[in-house]
Amino acid sequence: MVKGVRQRPKNTMNDLDSKEWVKSTKSWFIINPRPRSDVQLEHPAKFPEELVKHFLRFFTKEGSWVLDPFAGIGSTLIACKESSRNSVGIELNPEFVDIGRRFLSTYPGKGEHHFLDGNSMRIRELLENEFKHEVPTFDFLITSPPYWDMLRKSRGGNDSIQKDRKERGLRQFYSNLEYDLGNIDNYYRYIETLSSIICSLKPFLRDGAYLSIIVQNMRDTNGEMRPIAWDVAKQLSNQYQLQQEMIWCQDNKKLGCWGYPTTYVSNVHHHYCLIFRNSV
Ligand SMILES: C[S@@+](CC[C@H](N)C(=O)[O-])C[C@H]1O[C@@H](n2cnc3c(N)ncnc32)[C@H](O)[C@@H]1O
Repeated sequence: MVKGVRQRPKNTMNDLDSKEWVKSTKSWFIINPRPRSDVQLEHPAKFPEELVKHFLRFFTKEGSWVLDPFAGIGSTLIACKESSRNSVGIELNPEFVDIGRRFLSTYPGKGEHHFLDGNSMRIRELLENEFKHEVPTFDFLITSPPYWDMLRKSRGGNDSIQKDRKERGLRQFYSNLEYDLGNIDNYYRYIETLSSIICSLKPFLRDGAYLSIIVQNMRDTNGEMRPIAWDVAKQLSNQYQLQQEMIWCQDNKKLGCWGYPTTYVSNVHHHYCLIFRNSV
């Protein structure tokens, strides 16, 4: 080192320069999902690849390993492939895994990508079977679990989306499978199960790895608020350090006229992306 010249600390987080870094730290952002293709419409609630890329840019570097325990039709894996990250996705419904694997193979990109068919409650077994006891250490976890039983209950905007899907002959919920988190009948059991799955992943995450859990607070059919984001944040704080929430806003969704003219019913056009850190 030249005497008197201060060396910049090495960027150990990501491949961004300082300007890009600062921009990425704003606590809210707008991403409007593009209209979905016919294949993508097979899944009732996929998130956009752009959303995953937004987080990959900040929380990972090229070659990092990324885990998604509720992989759906594989948006995380596609975003990783296109961004030269490695990925593992786990999905309970074999039909989604099948669609996701086929879809993933049509995308150009780099890295290793493993789409595993199974229940995230048995993640150790799934990872060890796939990697024969050489399971990678993950640098980042990003996922969006079922928002409890939201897809199964009619309410406001969700109701009209579900009606529309029904009319078009599209699937309205994830599955009838026993271990589907969207089929748990009791809210508190849902929070407990989801939290215990995310906590069980701790041994596979590197020290200092970040997690982004994407959820939404919801109103039950009887009007009771179910603050999924806040309940999950509290539960997971036993194992991981809660850093902050980032708010993903959508501003191209239609506004519904719910509750008018007597009651406040919100048009919910944002999601909470809860950011945790696996303690260093
Ligand atoms: C919100 S969706 C994820 C969508 C995904 N991010 C995408 O873009 O395709 C939640 C997924 O979790 C899956 N799931 C529910 N319970 C599960 C479990 N116990 N293990 C693994 N996957 C599960 C559902 O089948 C559903 O596809």
